[in-house]
Amino acid sequence: MNKLIALVFYATAALTCLGSDPTFTVDASHSAGQVSPTLYGLMTEEINHSYDGGLYAELIRNRAFLDGANAPACWSVVNDDDAAADIALDPTNSFNEELTMSLRVTVTKATKDHPAGVANSGYWGIPVQPGTSYHALILARAESSFSGPVTISIVSDDGKKVYATQTLSGLGTAWDKFAVTLKTGEVTPTAKARFVMTLDQPGTVWFGMVSLFPPTWNDQPNGFRKDLMQMLVDLNPKFLRFPGGNYVEGETVETRFDWKKTIGPIWERHGHPCPWGYRSTDGLGLLEFLEWCEDMKAEPVLAVYAGYSLKGQHVNPGPNLEPFVNEALEEIEYVTGDTNSVWGARRAQDGHPAPFNLHYVEIGNEDWFDKSKSYDARFAQFYDAIKAKYPLLKTISTIGDDQPETARVHSRKPDVIDGHYYRSVDTFLRMSPDYAKAYDRIGPDIFVGEWAAYETSFPPWSRLSQKEPPTPNLKAAIGDAVFMAAMERNSDLIKMQCYAPLLVNVNPGGRQWRPDLIGFDALSAYGSPSYYAIQMFSRNVGDEILATASLETAVQGCATRDSLTGDIFLKLVNPQATAEKLEIEINGAGSLARKASEIVLAGDPGDSNSLAQPKKVVPVTQTVRHVKPGFTCTMPPCSIVVLKLKARS
Ligand code: AHR
Repeated sequence: MNKLIALVFYATAALTCLGSDPTFTVDASHSAGQVSPTLYGLMTEEINHSYDGGLYAELIRNRAFLDGANAPACWSVVNDDDAAADIALDPTNSFNEELTMSLRVTVTKATKDHPAGVANSGYWGIPVQPGTSYHALILARAESSFSGPVTISIVSDDGKKVYATQTLSGLGTAWDKFAVTLKTGEVTPTAKARFVMTLDQPGTVWFGMVSLFPPTWNDQPNGFRKDLMQMLVDLNPKFLRFPGGNYVEGETVETRFDWKKTIGPIWERHGHPCPWGYRSTDGLGLLEFLEWCEDMKAEPVLAVYAGYSLKGQHVNPGPNLEPFVNEALEEIEYVTGDTNSVWGARRAQDGHPAPFNLHYVEIGNEDWFDKSKSYDARFAQFYDAIKAKYPLLKTISTIGDDQPETARVHSRKPDVIDGHYYRSVDTFLRMSPDYAKAYDRIGPDIFVGEWAAYETSFPPWSRLSQKEPPTPNLKAAIGDAVFMAAMERNSDLIKMQCYAPLLVNVNPGGRQWRPDLIGFDALSAYGSPSYYAIQMFSRNVGDEILATASLETAVQGCATRDSLTGDIFLKLVNPQATAEKLEIEINGAGSLARKASEIVLAGDPGDSNSLAQPKKVVPVTQTVRHVKPGFTCTMPPCSIVVLKLKARS
């Protein structure tokens, strides 16, 4: 806002509130800037079993037997007193060069009534739903004296109920792929179930990969869990930042997100150790990330590996870095190239001939951790190569305005800088009123690529976080909301922002970080109060910023207007333990409809949602009457209110 106009505006606001209730003033006489159309988006990486055991709908854990070198993790013998089997990892007998391990199942004693074999416990259970088809893909071979059948079933943990079953026959001594569909009947949903493969006679079978998918979002093969996708779509995201976060960096150069190893049929993906302490199948690979964007009608914000890994390894700029720069250029070609290009053709071969729209490429992640201070030169090398081949692409530096000026990139001017804000609620309450006010409007643009408020006295990376619930409470949502309001007020400069982390598997051992936005187990999912706060903000936003002033009150907020309809979206956050009666002054708006709608998220600050109580804190929509340019709004204690004011037609 022009300084003179600002002075006059704030002076007017001050006069208005003299002798009355605290006032929240909106200057609707003119637009104070454009709201970035890509302001609200999502950030994702493999953390907290976000993909494996989460959004990626695969139900078999350790499907390629590569989790652990000594024993087949998550697989166990099925036998009884009259049946016997032995299972073992067999590296000498593998399906191909990517799937380097197989599971050998040797049944020494079995009959129809007493079968023996192997079971998989899934990601904290196999979710069983009524009337549902599950698609299994099994890579297998057998010794010459055995050709089947193998009985494939989904069975209750205690073995008493068979929810769905099929037989598989025709096994030969050469590896082959078998597709099996399992259909459940009437059943009460449960995750207390296992996937079981048994023989009813002695024999030896090797399995190279065993995969099982429930119905997926849009019935996409190798696709996504439906309930989680619906929750993500409901956030109305305009972009998806992927694949990290730390996940793009890996602990070492070797274990970075090596995109070429994540494409093609799933039996050609070896997977790799993810930096969050478990192995990724890479089933959700580069193409799946892009299809995920497509499914949400969001644009990809692609992070490329830039030569720094978490254990402190870095690749020296210059010739050593060249292969990684080329790897990034090829990755961009895979995303955007037409089918005449090498990597565009490969994308078509992988099933997606149409190129994806890409505007932003992020070079690395959190490179201020690189003690060698090589980022400026590494960034420059990537920047020059990317701009030479893709001049319209915008480059994002990972060292943002949350880091000292001296640490940032100076040899080139990044188009965008990415700052990360994990802050306590109190810090957000303190910093938000002035956030970004003083920033230079000539750029670079700002991407707040990771942020979250925490309500604990310790930060998310503290071990103490493990003792807390995985998702945050309403108090944290208040901190999130004041920061979102600040970013929206400044969205002429803050072009994109996204909360992190997005997803958490709430089972014991499922998570590495809190707070997280959406919690889930094998069967169901819920949104935290922060999830609903983001939904309220992202679904109610105009394209013009309106200047606001918050006077004699702790309430913070922002306002935008839809330039086509004239509708005004007012967002207010009351962090206090008491209700707040606010005078809302809307100056220069023309006439407003008398009826407006109001969405309220309120409760006790300690209130939170969980699997057991998924809807304890959810927004409530109601109609407000008698709206005029000056009206009173009483905000409940600890509340977030979105007012949708309609222009009078
Ligand atoms: O969001 C969790 C982690 O926080 C991200 O992987 C990393 O970028 C940041 O330090």
